Amino acid sequence: MDELIKILVVDDDDSGREALTLLLRSAGYAVTSAATGEIALELIDKEQYQVIVSDLFLPDISGFDILQNVQKVAPATEVIVVTGHASAQSAVRAMKEGAFDYITKPIDFDELKIVVSKALEKQKLLSENSYLRRQLQGRFEFSNIIGSSPAMNLVFERMNRIVKTDSTVLVTGESGTGKELVARALHYNGTRRERPFIAVNCSAIPETLLESELFGHVRGAFTGAIKDKPGKFEAANHGTIFLDEIGTLPLHLQAKMLRVLQEHEVERVGATKPIKLQVRVISATNADLEEMVKRGEFREDLFYRLNVIPLHLPPLRERQQDIAFLTAFFLEKQCRLMGRQLCTINKQAFEILERYSWPGNVRELENLIERMVALTDANVITVEDIPSKIVAEKAEGESTYVTMPTGGVNMVATISRIEQQLITQAMDSAGGVKAKAAALLGINRTTLVEKIKRLKME
Ligand SMILES: Nc1ncnc2c1ncn2[C@@H]1O[C@H](COP(=O)(O)OP(=O)(O)O)[C@@H](O)[C@H]1O
Ligand SMILES: [Mg+2]
Repeated sequence: MDELIKILVVDDDDSGREALTLLLRSAGYAVTSAATGEIALELIDKEQYQVIVSDLFLPDISGFDILQNVQKVAPATEVIVVTGHASAQSAVRAMKEGAFDYITKPIDFDELKIVVSKALEKQKLLSENSYLRRQLQGRFEFSNIIGSSPAMNLVFERMNRIVKTDSTVLVTGESGTGKELVARALHYNGTRRERPFIAVNCSAIPETLLESELFGHVRGAFTGAIKDKPGKFEAANHGTIFLDEIGTLPLHLQAKMLRVLQEHEVERVGATKPIKLQVRVISATNADLEEMVKRGEFREDLFYRLNVIPLHLPPLRERQQDIAFLTAFFLEKQCRLMGRQLCTINKQAFEILERYSWPGNVRELENLIERMVALTDANVITVEDIPSKIVAEKAEGESTYVTMPTGGVNMVATISRIEQQLITQAMDSAGGVKAKAAALLGINRTTLVEKIKRLKME
């Protein structure tokens, strides 16, 4: 096992402390021990331990104080508390305050070893995240686009394939999934990087102005056209034009757009002669263009022109494993921008972010982190820093919230189905031991046995 894994043992009882130290050393860990809470706090300040095994009742300060302190100064450290057998209440409190787990005296050494290795396993997740992120940065040039989910890896793969080409790309995805970020990355890592990148948000410009914005106009073309003006396409010549929200382009402009893309030339409004252009087109939409084609709201020929290389960005809720990376990335970024010491987020708070549905996708996450960092003086983001709306959504998801179908429901059958699912899962995680499964479900063993029989689950 890795010698670098550092464990701190805190216990005022000499023989207990020595036994724990020896045991964990024999399991291959680098163990330091402290006989008082004060010594422990000093050590925690100086050294980063992966795991702390602490007695809850110490002569000077309590294990709860140690727990609190660790969360402030070393939030990545897992704390396992040791309690006397009669103190279930303090064990529960310790868990609530963020302990990884508790074990009761007299200590079962095998149990302790298992709990320690579980704590290390859980910890690995977060450190692997930053490791993976560094790897990604090496592998791809798109270092400011964070993601390691299979879905994002597909996106990166495709981006790598097309970044050195002039292919027309259509980026699809909900608002805030990173469509513009991807478009910019393609441009600034491509062969046209020295040339302009011009972004036009088709939905933000009034319809009456859009044509002249895109294609330009000549003097006298309409009231107010007092001189010749080049459009965005001309401005983007030899570079990239990014047509955002392309689904909102009115039908008559769709026809003109198609001509520009097919002929590689643009005609300013009111002009008689076209101008030759060499522009790469990347467009983006959060609308389902194929659906719009079916409804006759978007020209099919234009759709095929734009959709040469499709690039889909899935919503954040479908790539949950990116949330850790993005959170770390934005925390780092915000703290740097605000000139502050690096902030972290504790596990309980992170789990809430991980489960939230993120209707505003990455943009919502980025804004939330900016706001949380700005509003706290602490270096650790906790549940209290998260707006209650987001915390509440998590609670609802957890309480197996069900909605009655409009046509009514067979309640007995539905409840049986839920019971079956919960029992199956409990039995699985209890390794088939009924007493353990019953404990996980908060019922006693005989009730569980009866239910299994009644539901014919055997
Ligand atoms: N994968 C990502 N990694 C880092 N930042 C991201 C990522 N996706 C989106 N963002 C950030 O989220 C915000 C919204 O992204 P944007 O590209 O404007 O989304 P969209 O155009 O799809 O609405 C931007 O600040 C962007 O930098
Ligand atoms: Mg956008």
